[in-house]
Amino acid sequence: MSKITAAITAVGAYVPEDVLTNKMLEKMVETNDEWIFSRTGIKERRILKDPEKGTSFMAIKAAEDLIRKSKINPEEIDLVLLASITPDLPVAATAVYVATQIGAINAFAYDIQAACSGFLYGMSTAAAYIESGRYKKVLVIGADKMSSIIDYTDRTTCIIFGDGAGAALFEPNFEGLGLQDEILRSDGIGRESLKIEAGGSLMPPSEITVAKRLHYVQQDGKTIYKFAVSKMADVSEEIMKKNDLTNNDIDWLIAHQANKRIVGATASRINVEDEKVLMNIERYGNTTSATLPLLLSDYEKLLKKGDTIIFATFGGGFTWGSIYFKWAYNS
Ligand code: UT7
Repeated sequence: MSKITAAITAVGAYVPEDVLTNKMLEKMVETNDEWIFSRTGIKERRILKDPEKGTSFMAIKAAEDLIRKSKINPEEIDLVLLASITPDLPVAATAVYVATQIGAINAFAYDIQAACSGFLYGMSTAAAYIESGRYKKVLVIGADKMSSIIDYTDRTTCIIFGDGAGAALFEPNFEGLGLQDEILRSDGIGRESLKIEAGGSLMPPSEITVAKRLHYVQQDGKTIYKFAVSKMADVSEEIMKKNDLTNNDIDWLIAHQANKRIVGATASRINVEDEKVLMNIERYGNTTSATLPLLLSDYEKLLKKGDTIIFATFGGGFTWGSIYFKWAYNS
């Protein structure tokens, strides 16, 4: 029997309707459209405004989009992985609620917390389960309601992030398509540079932590930028070398949408032309766990069976990595 590889066989996505433009942010903090666009490549982002809806709302919508398009029976799904840093609740995994709501009643489910690399790590986990032959349908969702943890009086963070969700179904493939190789990394020094200080076991929430706004994301943008530019490019270059790939072999670079300049640095290190670099940061900003599946959904029609893709991410933690992948279908 030929080797089992783990292919993506369907994708789905959801972004909320409400748009937060750079012009609108100009009225909220001291910033301007020109600064934001030139430094990040972002023009606008989507915001889930309804205070009664959490990350699960978007994750369910993205999964339902996938189920409708692929016509799979959700009862056949074995495992639901939800990558997110904004779970509905601190306790009770959001993935479990999502699985039940979408009718995946025979699945087990759990959350993955790896910030902007959450979906990439989820791809690795899904592929390992599929390649081992243990499971046949693994749904990986990346979803974040970043607006719930962003301080809209802090111009260094509020201009970057947006809300959204995307999903991908992993199934066995017998033609050698799907995940080919991966390099995943992490480094705990990163938690000083990007964190929510309060609300966990180290500093439980209190009136003081709320008054000090410690329940919001704080980041040292410059340090993250420096690490992201070198580490994301390093692993992308390394995985290509390891697999004897040249830039001519690459059809698409699908990189975490943190900042257009960070993605550009990775593209130029591996010599991939602009036309091969999938981007949507201009419309959504940084949606953390959702950037990769949102790109897959937006550009699904462009991806052709057999196309060679390099996925790359860098995020809080620090967490980063690269995956060499072969696309498995024409839509
Ligand atoms: O997925 C991981 C999540 N985080 C990231 O990816 C963040 C990575 N970092 C970045 O993308 C960039 O560092 C930022 C976009 C956050 C900032 O860009 P930068 O080119 O590194 O700007 P900077 O921090 O060096 O700030 C330059 C100037 C400063 O003023 P002075 O000190 O030169 O007078 C800032 O105070 O720009 C000022 N500034 C702003 N001005 C207008 C900072 N934020 C803003 C703003 N609007 N929103």
